[in-house]
Amino acid sequence: MKIALGSDHAGLPLKKEIIKHLEKKGIEVRDFGTLSEDSCDYSDYGLLVAEEVVSKRFDFGILICGTGIGISIAANKVPGVRAALCGDTFSAHSCREHNDANILALGQRVVGLGLALDIVDAFLGAKYEGGRHARRVDKISQIEKKYNK
Ligand code: RB5
Repeated sequence: MKIALGSDHAGLPLKKEIIKHLEKKGIEVRDFGTLSEDSCDYSDYGLLVAEEVVSKRFDFGILICGTGIGISIAANKVPGVRAALCGDTFSAHSCREHNDANILALGQRVVGLGLALDIVDAFLGAKYEGGRHARRVDKISQIEKKYNK
């Protein structure tokens, strides 16, 4: 499994911890920045990771900013991205099972480290169930097609 990670300055410390956590489990990761604590724009890193995920170069993305909101909004502008901002483990596995989410977004200023790592594990450990959910996810793609001409 290959994971693309990105954050702004406000999500940098949590991103580093998540990378350590995933590497310990033998999961391949790549950090698409930011790499410094200098103030930067979450939208740039949301776009970078979104493009890696929709191109299928990476299986999933993990994006972190202060709240997780800005970076998930940015990523969700890329057709094919289903980025889910999660603050609990139930949402983290449900967004995989029901929504086929391909990017997990986290807010470093919102969740503590222990919970954040549990959310990551819940997200990566869950599988899309398809079935009745497929129709709904397909309708999301249809909305993208309608507005991306
Ligand atoms: C940066 O200060 C902060 O605005 C950003 O990380 C994020 O929370 C935006 O949604």
